[in-house]
Amino acid sequence: MASKGKVVLAYSGGLDTSVIIPYLKEQGYDVVACIANVGQPGEDVDAIAERAKAIGAVESHALDLCEEYADDFLTKAIAANGMYENRYPLLSAMSRPIICKALVDIAHKTGAVAIAHGCTGKGNDQVRFELECKALDPDLDVLGPVRTWNFTTRTSEIEYAQANGIEIPVSKKQPYSIDENVWGRAIECGVLENPWNEPPEDAWTMTKDIEDTPDTPTDVVITFEAGQPVALDGERMGKLALITKMNHLAGDNGFGRLDVIEDRLVGLKSRECYEQPAALALIVAHKALESLCLPGDVLAEKLDLEHVWAKQVYGGLWYSPLKDAIDAFFASTQKTLNGDVRLRLFKGNCFTTGMRSDTAVYDFGLATYDEGDTFDRSAAKGFMDLYGLPNYVWAKTNGPSSKKAE
Ligand code: ARG
Repeated sequence: MASKGKVVLAYSGGLDTSVIIPYLKEQGYDVVACIANVGQPGEDVDAIAERAKAIGAVESHALDLCEEYADDFLTKAIAANGMYENRYPLLSAMSRPIICKALVDIAHKTGAVAIAHGCTGKGNDQVRFELECKALDPDLDVLGPVRTWNFTTRTSEIEYAQANGIEIPVSKKQPYSIDENVWGRAIECGVLENPWNEPPEDAWTMTKDIEDTPDTPTDVVITFEAGQPVALDGERMGKLALITKMNHLAGDNGFGRLDVIEDRLVGLKSRECYEQPAALALIVAHKALESLCLPGDVLAEKLDLEHVWAKQVYGGLWYSPLKDAIDAFFASTQKTLNGDVRLRLFKGNCFTTGMRSDTAVYDFGLATYDEGDTFDRSAAKGFMDLYGLPNYVWAKTNGPSSKKAE
């Protein structure tokens, strides 16, 4: 059969994406495998890339995207305090845009006609792969073989794998579905599908159980410049190193676990457990500095846009004009965010114990009830007269508004 052309496969080394290689070959494609390192621990991406070749990929690429992920993508999540449904700091949703960018780059370099992924037809990731790849190149096809192939059971898939010489990963059967990168870890499926079941202790790997955490708190001072964390306890470090260190500091104190019911794009609710110690701690600190340095009206508008931003990113619209425009708004708000935030991590908690900034709009003289008060109290009465005026006029005409409503 004449080749239908090359397909770039987002390869993970797991059973599904391994089976995709012979499957796509049968469909007449040449498979170019691509595995990205975005900070998932314990994976040798070079070895995984070799495995793809052994299974039949014509080419295989292992890409280390960690630094770029932290510097160009997670910086935006920090500026946005990015959290879907006000809780979930978007760990899977954050890694897809950079992975898609890498896949599309490889597609262009190799002259591929399509991208393929191993997502199921029930999740958000299929939407992200498809929308993000096509936003970068609308002429590329995006294939989701897991959605269309005929393996109705895992056993039939394993039989097909064995018939095609694919080694079945010997690791003990994974009780959960895991997705992991430097921004955190998602745990779903298995016993977690019943929302009444307490997540078993073995579900968590980045965060300690409270009983195992230190009995004294860990304080850490985070220094921000232009809205981005640049140093921990005075030690300057790159973004990736800083996030990695915060994952350990916060995780060791049992901070960073989430157990939520989440509304997926495809309409269903799912129970998701997340561990995002650094993400959640950095957002606590970043929000604190914003509260010190940004005017109230800017904060209020930003908060509204943070929700829109998170929905866009969750929904695979990273590469979209709306998300770009909101990023530009956020960038404008971050320019004066310089200073230090002190966080206390203790027994599953993370809270601020202090903050300071040379660019604070918190004004001690205006705020103090002590010596040095600069606030003009005499202006307060006139302010209230005018601020309350529409309500006084209403009450005179109609009586108190709550009475009117009865
Ligand atoms: N529900 C999350 C999201 O859509 C996490 C998905 C994690 N994927 C996985 N294979 N466990 O962002």
